Parts: sequence; C-alpha cells; structure tokens
Amino acid sequence: MSTPNLAPIPELFVSYESAQKLKIEAADLTSWDLSPRQICDLELLMNGGFNPLKGFLTEADYTSVVENMRLADGSLWPMPITLDVSEAFADSIEIGQDIALRDQEGVILGTMTVTDRWTPDKAKEAEMVFGADDDAHPAVNYLHNTAGKVYLGGPITGIQQPVHYDFRARRDTPNELRAYFRKLGWRKVVAFQTRNPLHRAHQELTFRAAKEAQANLLIHPVVGMTKPGDVDHFTRVRCYEAVLDKYPSSTTTMSLLPLAMRMAGPREAVWHGLIRKNFGVTHFIVGRDHAGPGSNSQGEDFYGPYDAQELFKQHEEEMGITMVPFKHMVYVQERAQYEPNDEIADKDDVTILNISGTELRRRLAEGLEIPDWFSFPEVVRELRKTRPPRSKQGFTVFFTGFSGSGKSTIANALMVKLMEMGGRPVTLLDGDIVRKNLSSELGFSKEHRDLNIRRIGYVASEITKNGGIAICAPIAPYSATRRAVREDIEQYGAFLEVHVATSLEECERRDRKGLYKLAREGKIKEFTGISDPYDVPENPELRVETENVDVDNCAHQVILKLESLGLIAAH
Ligand code: PPS
Repeated sequence: MSTPNLAPIPELFVSYESAQKLKIEAADLTSWDLSPRQICDLELLMNGGFNPLKGFLTEADYTSVVENMRLADGSLWPMPITLDVSEAFADSIEIGQDIALRDQEGVILGTMTVTDRWTPDKAKEAEMVFGADDDAHPAVNYLHNTAGKVYLGGPITGIQQPVHYDFRARRDTPNELRAYFRKLGWRKVVAFQTRNPLHRAHQELTFRAAKEAQANLLIHPVVGMTKPGDVDHFTRVRCYEAVLDKYPSSTTTMSLLPLAMRMAGPREAVWHGLIRKNFGVTHFIVGRDHAGPGSNSQGEDFYGPYDAQELFKQHEEEMGITMVPFKHMVYVQERAQYEPNDEIADKDDVTILNISGTELRRRLAEGLEIPDWFSFPEVVRELRKTRPPRSKQGFTVFFTGFSGSGKSTIANALMVKLMEMGGRPVTLLDGDIVRKNLSSELGFSKEHRDLNIRRIGYVASEITKNGGIAICAPIAPYSATRRAVREDIEQYGAFLEVHVATSLEECERRDRKGLYKLAREGKIKEFTGISDPYDVPENPELRVETENVDVDNCAHQVILKLESLGLIAAH
C-alpha cells in the first residue's frame, strides 16, 4: 500500500494558449459569480485535488454520493461537490449551455457545460451526508441558509487558478507537490490535516507518526474555509512557519490546502484521505473526532469519537492510503516530555499536564500565562497578537425584539454608559438610523429585512474587527439571519445577543409610534408580530424583561454581562 503516488494526475486546465482564447470567448457567456466556498471547490476540481471528479456533480453522481458515498460509476467519493445557484439563475439556463464561472472580482476561472439541473432534497442530503438535519451543524446550516435552492452539474474546463496573494510560496497543486516529493526522493509521506494552530503536543505526535511510518512529514493545513470561529489562516500560517523549524531539517515540509471543509466527521475523513492521495501522500493521520462539528442542538456530539477512524479503516485498502491513528499526547512533568497517554505505565506516580482548547482560549482571552511546556513562545506571541485579551478586543451587542419593545432606548442608555467608561469607540446602529442611512430603499419583505440585517452585521463586524464596540438594535426577526451575523462577527470579537423580551401585548399596549394600530387595521402590511413572523431567540447571551424594570436597570444588566464575559475590565 505504500507504493509512491507520484506520477502526474489529470487536471482540468487547458493549455495556456487555449486558455487565452477561451477567456475571450467566455466573456460572452452567461456568468455565475462563485461564492467563496465554490471558489475553493473549483480550485481543487481544476488542479486535480478532487480527482476523479471532472466537474460539479451531475444529478446521478450526486444521488449516488449522497446515498452510497460513491459516484455513479462506483468510485469512492463521500462528499457532494455541487454548484448551488438561485432559482432565477437556474431558470435562465438551458441544458447543454456553457456558463462562465467567475471569482468575486469578475475574473473568469473556468467554464462549465451544464448537463444537469435539479432541486435537491436538502433534508435528505443533511441526514445522509452530515448525519442529521440539524442546523447546529455548520454544513447543514450552510446547506439550508446559504446555498442556493437549485444545483447545476456538468464538466469544467479550467482556464486559470484562483489568484492568491498570500503565502504564494507555500501553495502547491497536487502535481507540484508530487513533483517536489519526486525530486526529494520522498517515497513515503505522512500528511497531517489541521485547522488549528500547532502546539508542542501536535509537533510531537506528527513527528512520532512520521517516525513510526518511516516516512517524511507533510503539514497540510486547510486555508480555504474551516469552522466558523476558528483562528484565521494568516495567523495560523505564521504559527506553522514557527513550528516547522522545530522538526529535524529535511524531514518535514508544509503546504497550504485551499479546501472548504464541511466538518462532516467520518465522511470528511475519507474525503480528506482521497484528497491527500491526489497530493501524492501515502499515509494520513486521523485523530479522535476528526473534522468534528461540535455538538448538535441537543448538546450531544454529532459523531462518535472514533467513527472517522472506523470509516477510514473500512476504505483504507480501496483508497490506497494508510491511516496513522492519532495518539493522544500528554505532558509528563517529571520526565519533561510528551508521551502517548495510553503508553504511560506509571500513571499513578507521575504528574500529567494538559491544557484543553477551551482552557487555552480562556487564557488567551484573559491575557493569562501559557506555559512553555504547552506551546512554543513564537506561537503564543502570534496568537496573542491576533487575540489580545478580551477587554482590549472589539465586540458587538446585538439587541433584538419587537417594534416598541425598548431596544433603542436600552441601546442608547448602554451607549452612554460605555462612553462614560471610555477606552473604545462606540457606534450605535439603531434600526431607524440604519433604515435612514444604509437601507433607505428597503421595505419589510423577508428578503429586504435579511439584507438590512446583513448590512448591519457587515458594519458591526468591521467595527468589531477594528477594536470598537458596535451596538445594534434592529428587530431582526429571523434566527438564521441573526446566526449568520453572529458568525461574521465572531471571527473578530465577541457577539452578545440580547433579547428584549417585551411581550407583543405590552408593545401593542404602549404603541409608541401608533404603528400597531395601523397594522391591526391592515394599513401597514407585514408588521412583525401582527402579520409577520418573529423567531424568539433560543439561546441569547442575555434576555431582558422591560415590564416593571426601568431602562437604566436593563442597560446595567448588559454591562454586568459584559463584565462577566471579560469584555470590560477594571483598568
Ligand atoms: S428589521 O426587520 O430588523 O429589518 O426591522 P428594522 O430595521 O429594525 O425596522 C423596524 C422599524 O421600522 C418600523 N416599521 C416596521 N417594523 C416592523 N414591521 C413593519 N412592517 C414595519 N414598518 C415600519 C418600526 O417603527 C420599527 O421600529 P422599532 O425601532 O423596532 O420600533
């Protein structure tokens, strides 16, 4: 099984001359503007990372992949790679037509001949591929709330790779990596997949894995899309560069993989193995809870901790890549070294140290010590640069509730209190102000409300990224949209959802703007709570009752919450 996988593999690119010609011809084609995830998928389709796929899946391949983890011709392929589009775009296309696939700046990356168009059963896709139709799973959430309703399938003609301006020297196509291994005479290579910064334990376990397999090591981190909330790839790559120096020279290399992960656990592990095979690797490290998405809406894990290893093992032979199970490494204080947990014979006589991911995040957030035995000082320094203590980071307070619930009044009081404290600039994005300045052309249909909230979210995320405080106070009736905004913001700082839980009856009784009366009379249509829905937040960071509680007290509750989260601290 360890025969070198080093012969060139097929790509979907045409020659340079043909690409120049095709690019001009393609300018006249109907265009689809690819989403960030589709750009990642297209890059790996075109460069052979998704070999044997020749394009976005056809309906027959999709059905077979969803149901059997195989393409219609029987080849193992666990993940549906689909081109999801809007209904309007799908309706404008004829079967057999060529379309141009453009990146977000309008550059044509390739063309696709549309052979298939269908409306997928997304609930079934969620159940079969991700194990549950539960929006707590990031890929299921994406499927239902971000992906278009219709899928298009067909072969791709590759014109050019997506342009990357960052870490260019560290990006390789499968054939470039194969050529590199050939050149160095690396016949056995073990790959380590990661979406997190590497610490000493990872360095130990990867080096051990390579030694055990008598192989060289490829650190192969994902820099496409990972789990919402992960450390950004710029920071991670700077950390990886530092760790790379800790391996004996010429044993180890690193290459960046522009994959959009789905967090699909067992299926994802098999998919990762097949991709790594394409990159010329012979061995692959699979850990406990590989590509795990966290817990479901009942608070339980989506997959068993060893499901990924089991599924990988079942298909190992067919895939032609050997699994190296990940060892849980812990630090033994008396011997000042990392050892595999299950190989420590004298557990009762030694001190075993470990810092969990959650504990590490807490220490970073609170600016506490991170010991040298846990990580390398260079790595900790990089992480501290991107994750300063919470009391120095930006954050967003997002009020949601019915019209007239008191959102704006509490938001104003909160703003004043925060400005009195000083330290960070505060911006109030109140519903009415936003509708005047940012969203004046929008009405109250679901589509327009979503657009309004996404705009607020965008501005708040920029403020948060730059270390400020954004206070938002729209109705924001849809939970999926609130969640999307949360994900945008949590990349940069904390997101505090505050449900102003004034009942509809009370809002209507107060009727400050006289709108409820008009809504009851049918003079205002689509009025939240009367003739339009409001999804009550299930798990807001804070819920404030406003009946019989004064505004000052409500704002103070938010301040106390911010303090308890470490977002405001005594100086
Ligand atoms: S949303 O759903 O979040 O985009 O709404 P938002 O931007 O917060 O705007 C709500 C304010 O607009 C007034 N208004 C309506 N609200 C709800 N439904 C309908 N149809 C509607 N028409 C006008 C209303 O005054 C809301 O103000 P607040 O500050 O919430 O009372």
